[in-house]
Amino acid sequence: MRSNARIARAFAAAGALTLALTACGGGDDDTSASGDGGDEVVTVGFVAVGPEGGWRQANEANVQDTFTEEAGFELKYAPATNLDQRSQIDAFTSFVDEGVDVILLSATEGAGWEDSLRRAQEAEIPVILVDRGIEPDDTDLYVTRIAPDNYEVSTSVAEWAVAAFPDGGNYFVLEGPAGVSVVNERNQGWDDAVGSAANLVKIGAQTANWSTEEAKSVFETVLRANNNDIQIVFAQNDEMGLGAAIAVEEAGLTPGVDVQIATIDGTKPALEALSEGRLSFVAEYNPLFGETLLDVVGQVLDGEEVEPYIVVPSETFDSPEAATAALPTRKY
Ligand code: AHR
Repeated sequence: MRSNARIARAFAAAGALTLALTACGGGDDDTSASGDGGDEVVTVGFVAVGPEGGWRQANEANVQDTFTEEAGFELKYAPATNLDQRSQIDAFTSFVDEGVDVILLSATEGAGWEDSLRRAQEAEIPVILVDRGIEPDDTDLYVTRIAPDNYEVSTSVAEWAVAAFPDGGNYFVLEGPAGVSVVNERNQGWDDAVGSAANLVKIGAQTANWSTEEAKSVFETVLRANNNDIQIVFAQNDEMGLGAAIAVEEAGLTPGVDVQIATIDGTKPALEALSEGRLSFVAEYNPLFGETLLDVVGQVLDGEEVEPYIVVPSETFDSPEAATAALPTRKY
């Protein structure tokens, strides 16, 4: 059980954190948030994914840059070993045993978290899901999830495809790894929106594990097997979309003309490719929500009620001009 002293310490630290943030938010107030939150710090165990691609790097750097010692935190960063869930569960267990004040979880797998989450619940350590959901989605086992809405993001891609191809066309889906929650959510949003457009024909779907190289290999095989008769690619992240563009070019075709490729994430390489016409549509899946996460941690440790899913706003880019205009101010 979490001792009353530790709960009091966490609340005191959160209270100090709130004071520090209030001071920090006071504009010209010279009270710095740096380290004057008192001796107590809020210990945060971050069960992270680790190296995976541009989006993940931006997201995890943003969390680490936000939960600083100056802001009143000790962030214990635990990236997975080779995306392996076992290593995440081990890190999660260690954080519970250490008695951190709060656990942040970006799950490499959607399933298999019940035992870990129950252990945290018994230890009265709140768990906040960062980006990735869990399946089955039992909100009693965690406090909240903070992420853009994958269903809405993939629906925006599907709506672009339906509008761009009024006379229909053949499409292929490059998926993230099987078993990852966002993959199922993105498939659902796309399928629900495209399903009603009878003239868009699904030729197939295959995982390319978020990888440019693997997506190039998968899609060059798909093009050959279908005599290049594919008009649309829905790539569930930027890296895979860029891999598909390379496959199109190596097949002697022109991306943006012969095959239109739409992706999710909104990283700079994707917007650069969109500005050059190699991609046709990019839906941002905004990774930079560290400040929101910090506010929510403070609310949770203060015992406040929070929404079970806190949606991070994201935008879309549907033309080279839009990408070119956005690039100078993109932060990832
Ligand atoms: O969970 C978010 C996804 O994970 C991103 O879309 C992808 O790039 C990352 O690997």
